[in-house]
Amino acid sequence: MTMKFSLKSLSLTQACLEKSDALLILMPSQAKSDKASRASWPLAQLVQGAQASDDFDGKAGKTLAFYGAAGVASRVAVVLSSGKGSAKDVQGAVAAGMAALKGRSVKKLTICLGDESQSQHLPIVMQAVADATYVYTATKGTGTKDKSGRALAQVTVGVVDAVQAKKAFAHGQALVAGQDFAKEWANRPANFATPTLLGEAAKSLAKAHPVVACEVLGPKEVARLGMGSFMSVARGSNEPLRFIVLKYMGGAKSAAPTVLIGKGVTFDTGGISLKGGAGMDEMKFDMCGAASVLGTFRALAELKPKLNVIGLIPATENMPSGHATKPGDVVTAMDGQTIEVLNTDAEGRLILNDALVYAKRFKPAAVVDIATLTGACGVALGGVRAGLFSTNDALADGLLKAGERALDLAWRMPLDDEYAEGLKSNFADVANVAPPGGGAVTAAKFLERFTKTDGESHFPWAHLDIAGVAWKSGAAKGSTARPVGLLLEWLLSK
Ligand code: BES
Ligand code: MN
Ligand code: ZN
Repeated sequence: MTMKFSLKSLSLTQACLEKSDALLILMPSQAKSDKASRASWPLAQLVQGAQASDDFDGKAGKTLAFYGAAGVASRVAVVLSSGKGSAKDVQGAVAAGMAALKGRSVKKLTICLGDESQSQHLPIVMQAVADATYVYTATKGTGTKDKSGRALAQVTVGVVDAVQAKKAFAHGQALVAGQDFAKEWANRPANFATPTLLGEAAKSLAKAHPVVACEVLGPKEVARLGMGSFMSVARGSNEPLRFIVLKYMGGAKSAAPTVLIGKGVTFDTGGISLKGGAGMDEMKFDMCGAASVLGTFRALAELKPKLNVIGLIPATENMPSGHATKPGDVVTAMDGQTIEVLNTDAEGRLILNDALVYAKRFKPAAVVDIATLTGACGVALGGVRAGLFSTNDALADGLLKAGERALDLAWRMPLDDEYAEGLKSNFADVANVAPPGGGAVTAAKFLERFTKTDGESHFPWAHLDIAGVAWKSGAAKGSTARPVGLLLEWLLSK
């Protein structure tokens, strides 16, 4: 079932009159909410009483649930303390509210942002609701209740002034649509998300949203372009590779586009440099960069901002076979650089480099690649922040700040030339791996070579290594849709 959001101007009293299965009320800490709790709305006295006790002390994430309260039309009302009203506090409060409703059948939800200052956080609020109710369905059998997806069908967001909140609400709607789409494709097992199927997903996105154009290249076209590095990764697989080109041209014809490149390794076995067996299923997530580009385009299609954005997705499996590239093989990238493939498991950089060279033709204002590139980045930064590498300070700064605003965090990593020492090869222009140490950085240094000729930059470039943040393992195994939030926030701030 699809979830529909609607925006309304609602006072606390009006929110209580909404007939929903559940009502969530966000309440900033005492100082701010004094007025609201003293005013005569149905739960005023009860909330005031709780505030006087230590139980509801204004810390973000505290919840107070009321059942069948007088003057409240919903079956249950949960008052949420949103602390100081920061984006993080608001996110924590909504997550706590959704957790309090877990297990109940909530089809219709009203969520009230009683304080004017909170409406700027609408995208965060809507994202938290969507995250808490997301249900994966693509490969669930007909016998399970998951098959029908989200139970939540209708979410009414109540704010003080709906006219003023319109823009933030539209951003929220686009964000949720984009993240749902990214999750859908990231979560699919590799046999339901082959390079061919990814190409078809991009095509049908363009078909459903005429503002997006899509072209999908196959092995022949890619060979003609001379993408020998990309092709060397696909050699071992029976699934044909795809090179997906998405175009969203909402801006002026003369405005240089932004190019987003997403790593689309639909399954990474490591190739001949085969990975260990433990947890290898998670290498179906090695196309999360690609999924984030698809998700961002889904959001752009929804919002239609005045921007030009190109999406490039090299999509392939990385498999061992009699045809597979072997350690020591030398391959030639689209710009003519030869590469000694010392480790076939360092395949992400071998598909991104050809996409970076291809990006040059668009004379881009900036190029950002997004990739589950190195386990080392996950070791360095864990699941909190993505690694950000950039040859351009202004670009890096813009991306970092967008990440802070969207609560989709990144951290700048170094690109000193000394890190490239280990990439020297006796048999080619460059090797695809360096000796151990600083693995996330040496990978980025490898990519950097394809953004330059004779030390000259082709375009402002940034690389987001999302290996640690793109999906969760364990009981909550699944895509996080990151960094769709960061990318959308960054694009919209341009
Ligand atoms: N897709 C992996 C990176 C990865 C590993 C992401 C684990 C998330 C979790 C990438 O293709 C890879 O295998 N990288 C190697 C590089 C090494 C061979 C230099 C790695 O990280 O081990
Ligand atoms: Mn690999
Ligand atoms: Zn990989």
